[in-house]
Amino acid sequence: MSKGLVRSGPDLFSFKSAKHRAEKFLMPQKDFKKNILCIGAGYVGGPTMTIIANKCSDYKITVVDISKERIAAWNSNELPIFEPGLKDRLLKVRGKNLFFSNDIDTSIDQADIIFVCVNTPIKKFGEGAGKAVDLQFIEQTARRIKENSKSNKIIVEKSTLPVRAAATLENILHSGNEKVRFEILSNPEFMAEGTAVRDMEFPDRVLIGSKDTPAGLAARQELVDLYLHWVPKENLITTNLWSSELSKLVSNGFLAQRISSINSIATLCEVTEADVTEVSKAVGKDSRIGPKFLNAGPGFGGSCFRKDILNLVYLCEHYQLNEVASFWEQVVSLNDYQMEHYVRRILQAMFNTLAGKKLAVFGFAFKPNTGDTRDSPAIYICKRLLEEKAYLRITDPQALKNARNDLQDLENLEFVEDPYKAAEGVHGIALITDWAEYSKLDFQEIFDKMEKPAFIFDGRNQLNRLALFDIGFNVYSVGKAPLTHF
Ligand code: NAD
Ligand code: UGA
Repeated sequence: MSKGLVRSGPDLFSFKSAKHRAEKFLMPQKDFKKNILCIGAGYVGGPTMTIIANKCSDYKITVVDISKERIAAWNSNELPIFEPGLKDRLLKVRGKNLFFSNDIDTSIDQADIIFVCVNTPIKKFGEGAGKAVDLQFIEQTARRIKENSKSNKIIVEKSTLPVRAAATLENILHSGNEKVRFEILSNPEFMAEGTAVRDMEFPDRVLIGSKDTPAGLAARQELVDLYLHWVPKENLITTNLWSSELSKLVSNGFLAQRISSINSIATLCEVTEADVTEVSKAVGKDSRIGPKFLNAGPGFGGSCFRKDILNLVYLCEHYQLNEVASFWEQVVSLNDYQMEHYVRRILQAMFNTLAGKKLAVFGFAFKPNTGDTRDSPAIYICKRLLEEKAYLRITDPQALKNARNDLQDLENLEFVEDPYKAAEGVHGIALITDWAEYSKLDFQEIFDKMEKPAFIFDGRNQLNRLALFDIGFNVYSVGKAPLTHF
């Protein structure tokens, strides 16, 4: 099972036999206008298809994956991902017009439109290692589509891909298969985890890139018709293929760049007694700049920002645009610096040694409302704290299974559900993920059971720092001068 997904639990529909259950989820119950297939049942494939199935009852949607375990989880009562509002939506359509199946080949053959939602991680080997996209899953998918297609199909790139990837896909799909025609569309996904359902139900925009040929425009219209079931016409943007592919990378680049910008200013605030929250508010009030994505933190995480920016860097280097490449690379370097800076601040505050000290880590997911820990700053920060010989008690409402996996083989740490228990007897608290429940904790009770002097490192500026200081904590918030009792 790949990182980032929660293991499937027991199937609670135990009153039905497995055979009956499989038939229920695999067999269409009526005739549908179109057959849609989604290849890849991950964080994007599962939720996107659930929303499409809810909004388009006249389409049959099948989701397939090479992971049998993941498909079983989507067919069970314990979904493989935690996403607010998803399960309600899924239960309304699963077995009606939404089906999760392991039968990839038959599903390809039956499909009119195929969404490709497989993972596109950073390459870990060979040329471009550490920067370029590993396209092996995309290529495997394209080859399988070619081998199993007996009729013309629309192929929709939903995975995030390098610009001009559609040309590669087209070459693979058409070589050696003259009878079947494939029309490639780019339709990148802009949803964020934790708000996926809302983002998909009320998207700021849906972007569709196509070729400017009669076949390309006809394919584009099919996808437009699908989205018009619920997306207002003015929110549908159509472009050429390359603009669409590139816009996805650039959107993530711009968002991440804002975070690195404010994080860079946060470190300056810490030494000048300016307050990053005040600066960010003052700057964001300018309607040309806007207030969103200006929250300083311990560094951005998630499966996409780093990989997509590095992909942009790699593309620029490929075209020998070295200055452009280093501009974007700096967004990632600053993020690395921010994570390390958070660790160094803890170390310096706690008298330059963590050896033998206990720290509670509040939050391990890369952001609240998800169990996803891919590229979470918590991974780097915890490993560094362990290197400094601290003992860690990690707590998180949804991400402990993944956290165990991320930190497997490491010693001097434990995973605790209850934040009060996690903080018992510790010297300091490192808050890395701003789960809403942390604001509601009784910090007097927590303080009373901690070693003294007690430290708190609020990596998200989530907590009331003056109240914490009054309780007796030494408070280190991101981008603010510390409040200490020394
Ligand atoms: P994921 O790892 O959660 O899911 C990908 C799935 O594809 C896995 O279940 C994997 O088993 C399956 N897969 C891989 N190769 C396959 C093959 N040949 N045949 C069938 N299934 C195969 O990834 P994700 O987070 O859903 O991301 C998918 C794509 O969407 C990536 O390109 C990512 O950059 C992009 N994206 C992700 C998000 C997000 O929030 N996670 C948002 C927007 C875009
Ligand atoms: C991001 C984008 O927001 C989505 O539009 C995009 O579709 C997706 O990447 C993708 O391509 O995968 P996501 O990574 O799920 O979505 O979550 P974000 O809300 O963007 O947060 C990313 C990271 O930035 C988190 O670690 C978050 O804590 C951090 N962040 C965000 C900050 O540190 N400060 C902010 O002001 C905002």
